[in-house]
Amino acid sequence: MENPIVFQGSEKARRIQAMFAGIAPTYDQLNHWLSLSIDKRWRRAAVREVADALTRPDAKALDVCCGTADLALELGRLAPTVGVDFCQPMLARGMEKVRRSGRPVRLLAGDALALPFADASFDVVTVAFGIRNVVDLDGALSEMRRTLKPGGKVVILEFSHPVVPGLKQLFGFYFARILPRIGNAVSRSGYAYSYLPASVQHFPDQATLAAQMEKAGFRDVTWRNLSGGIAALHTGARAALSDV
Ligand SMILES: C[S@@+](CC[C@H](N)C(=O)[O-])C[C@H]1O[C@@H](n2cnc3c(N)ncnc32)[C@H](O)[C@@H]1O
Repeated sequence: MENPIVFQGSEKARRIQAMFAGIAPTYDQLNHWLSLSIDKRWRRAAVREVADALTRPDAKALDVCCGTADLALELGRLAPTVGVDFCQPMLARGMEKVRRSGRPVRLLAGDALALPFADASFDVVTVAFGIRNVVDLDGALSEMRRTLKPGGKVVILEFSHPVVPGLKQLFGFYFARILPRIGNAVSRSGYAYSYLPASVQHFPDQATLAAQMEKAGFRDVTWRNLSGGIAALHTGARAALSDV
């Protein structure tokens, strides 16, 4: 099927989209195998960070780069949630899971760099393991802030840079040497699971990402490491109207 999404990006964005289309059939299974299912705990931790912002009866959440909808489905336990992704095969798998769950989750095709929503639409905006893949990090942060209501909360769950000596070397070996072999073989992708550690290496570290969130206009930016910094949870807020 011809992709209906108009990209802000480029050839690079198309390559990312094609890569995820190729690994969509094995994406969930490999996530859980390769992380020993720790990824599920990380997503639940992300949802806990924003749960208080989803208690109002009319609260709504947006999950950007939702992929196969694992985080959107966790958010859907608390409030109606929309997930957006630019890769149809990832969305198709997510839609099947949403249908089985019966939770109030809707998935849409869309580009993180041109989110198809009006300003100030959501109480919570999240992204898990997605923003690293968007070709323009500042552009994605700006779109997330634009669609967040004043006073709303943002959470970014992403692979990061381990901070615990020993773990750094051990995980570095696993991530760079073992994971790509298993991932590329099982998914039959020539490169997706080699791209993964390379993309994390080039992604800003914890403090730098926090600074970029502040530059994008988020307030109260803070972060905490998960599993010794293998992943990190960054949170922030859009200033409330009373603060501006
Ligand atoms: C590693 S997956 C993460 C999926 C899901 N959030 C999760 O937690 O498993 C990254 C996703 O980002 C999506 N993505 C990358 N760039 C995007 C963009 N510019 N707009 C929308 N989706 C994008 C990919 O299609 C892919 O589904």
